[in-house]
Amino acid sequence: MKILFFGDIVGQVGRNAVKHNIEKLVKKYQIDFVIANGENATHGKGLIEKHYNELIDAGVDCITLGNHYLSKNMIVNYIDDATSLVRPLNISKRIGGEGSVVFEANGVKIRVTNILGTAFMQEEVASPYYSLKSLIDNNEGEDAIHIVDFHAEATGEKMSFGYCFDGLVSAIVGTHTHVQTNDAKILENGTGFITDVGMCGAANGVLGFDKDTVIQKTIFGSNERFDLDKEDQEMVNAVVIDVDEMSHKTREIFAISLLGEKHNG
Ligand SMILES: [Fe+2]
Ligand SMILES: [Fe+2]
Repeated sequence: MKILFFGDIVGQVGRNAVKHNIEKLVKKYQIDFVIANGENATHGKGLIEKHYNELIDAGVDCITLGNHYLSKNMIVNYIDDATSLVRPLNISKRIGGEGSVVFEANGVKIRVTNILGTAFMQEEVASPYYSLKSLIDNNEGEDAIHIVDFHAEATGEKMSFGYCFDGLVSAIVGTHTHVQTNDAKILENGTGFITDVGMCGAANGVLGFDKDTVIQKTIFGSNERFDLDKEDQEMVNAVVIDVDEMSHKTREIFAISLLGEKHNG
């Protein structure tokens, strides 16, 4: 079972980057199931229904979220009907939706779970460790591949989380930092791991945002909101995970990073 996982999609350039590359990548790597982190897909923060549908129509099978799960309030109006959307499992707020969902591709079950980390994060969350452990315990014996999107800031927290669940899930992929790490590997007991998948968005900005507005803030303390440069070059960061259907362990995991041409929409 080959799974393609796109890192945080940032704004229109990110959505376009996915749309312009998904078909090619699915074909090239013979992908069976596509997951994308969509927490920044709407203007850099949150996910409105229109953009959720846009990504699903483009061929994404499952969309995960992150700390920006509620940045667009309208999500509460559609989350319960959005069957391919997975919000963080361990949030305290009750917004509906599910933090872990079982999908099916080519007759194989794939559970996808989204969890928020705690280091340098503002959200009120339950322990990511206990949340995932109890989810696994409650579904003991389930015949499903299990992919976990661990949305966290600190590299050390992500690695330690990976080792804690090595052998208990098929793969743990980190999201949130928007910078792809060069450490995709299979842990000792068969769990695929990468600290961060990276992002799909504007290649020449800062984490997908227009570099000038970010520089104004970091140097001069400007309170202006970050802009998105809609004409910047598209970048796609993703990982391909090949999971054994019988053992549910990862056979291969590798990161990909592509640069596209500039597009205006
Ligand atoms: Fe993000
Ligand atoms: Fe995030």
